[in-house]
Amino acid sequence: MPHTDPQAALAERGLVLRQLTQSGDSAAENPAVARQYRTVERGFYEEPPTGEALDQWLGLSREDGRRFLGVYPQGTDPAQTDPVGTFVDFVKGLHVGGGREVPAWLISNVTVSPTHRRRGILRAMMGASIQTAADRGHPVAALTASEGGIYSRFGFGVANSFRSIEVDVAGGLPLRGPAPTGSVRLVEPRELEGLGEELFRRAYLQTPGSVERTASYRVEETDTNLHRNGGKGTGLYAAVHHDDGGRPRGFVTYRFAGWDKKPQTMEVQSFITTTAQSHRALWQFLGSLDLIDRVTWQAAPDDGLLEAMVVDRRRVRTTFTQDRLWLRVLDLPTALSARLWSQDGALILKVSDSMGWAEGIWRVDVVGGEAAVAPAAGADPDLSMDVAELGSVWLGGISPEVLRQAALVTEHHSGAAAQLGRMLAQDRPVHCMTGF
Ligand SMILES: CC(C)(COP(=O)(O)OP(=O)(O)OC[C@H]1O[C@@H](n2cnc3c(N)ncnc32)[C@H](O)[C@@H]1OP(=O)(O)O)[C@@H](O)C(=O)NCCC(=O)NCCS
Repeated sequence: MPHTDPQAALAERGLVLRQLTQSGDSAAENPAVARQYRTVERGFYEEPPTGEALDQWLGLSREDGRRFLGVYPQGTDPAQTDPVGTFVDFVKGLHVGGGREVPAWLISNVTVSPTHRRRGILRAMMGASIQTAADRGHPVAALTASEGGIYSRFGFGVANSFRSIEVDVAGGLPLRGPAPTGSVRLVEPRELEGLGEELFRRAYLQTPGSVERTASYRVEETDTNLHRNGGKGTGLYAAVHHDDGGRPRGFVTYRFAGWDKKPQTMEVQSFITTTAQSHRALWQFLGSLDLIDRVTWQAAPDDGLLEAMVVDRRRVRTTFTQDRLWLRVLDLPTALSARLWSQDGALILKVSDSMGWAEGIWRVDVVGGEAAVAPAAGADPDLSMDVAELGSVWLGGISPEVLRQAALVTEHHSGAAAQLGRMLAQDRPVHCMTGF
């Protein structure tokens, strides 16, 4: 259990943590939530939406089931006062491999006013939120971070990464191997309504370490976000790959970067594929767009698939890599036994957790890929690690052996880190398709 009472820590500073409840989808019905959302946008230096665009956002937020926490000066009315701290949590599926999911507690929209930084507001909001997650039985909390240095102190570890790529397509993008099968059709982005979700769902269940999408992805993909150009469209294009039987297997959405940009560039927004052929066909399609010399994708997986597919792998350049999903184990036995393990074996793990939830010595017995996890106080551990490192290695995206070499995992019996790595390996590359 946490050692401090977050509410008491705030009260000492004349502040109070409130939970806002959203009812209905309009700003008129939800002045406090609308005010909080506008504060979040300003916290990230964005222009906040108003009018119908704000109402649209409130509707999407209700679809996600977002819960709003805000920190306010004591005695103020949230409908008439901007919060000095904002925090949102909600529940979505996390694919833990082999098509299995757990309900993850997602954290988002974290901001603290520049006038109130470094007074423990984030710590108080985080403590209150993950206490609720633990009370409700969610095995893990998850977030994607705007800065890398904030969250490991709260027990979050980086579970996977993404990268930005530039692909040189001047003169086409020759692929190795036979020509892709099926066909690619241009569609209006609005035609992705429903289909985008269906294909995403299938791709998500093929991608361990991925989180279900927030509702806002739908309006971005169909180019119907009212905050952008009043919902009249922003020049987004969409193409769908169908297999030889005419079944949709993948899609891409993309936008021209403008004639002023040299080399002439097409920017990928979404790239969702469910078969090897849809992956090949859509890259071949992107590589053959007239007048385009470069294709960029800001949130590509770091799995080497594109490099393996093209004749000249040097046409693919990584311009940026960054941590993507951060995971915080709350209920260790439930989290570890939720996923299918790739190798049987038995290990004793000693986990330290300054907030208490995963603290202890645990025996993990894997038989037939299923883990039985039980407390083993007093047992001689094979490995020791902090809960943040457990969050990193749990889904197989980060190697325990690498963390041992970084002295973040301590091995008490030789070879135990490598053994844990083999046991946690996934069949498919670990990647999170969603930012939130
Ligand atoms: C990041 C942010 C939310 C921190 O809020 P805060 O209320 O100042 O944080 P707290 O006072 O509760 O600090 C808690 C701990 O985190 C540390 N911390 C806070 N912000 C940090 C940062 N940007 N980098 C590194 N450490 C940070 C504090 O030093 C403190 O550490 P300690 O408890 O070990 O002494 C705030 O600076 C902010 O709003 N930034 C802009 C928006 C943003 O980046 N949001 C994060 C979205 S993922």
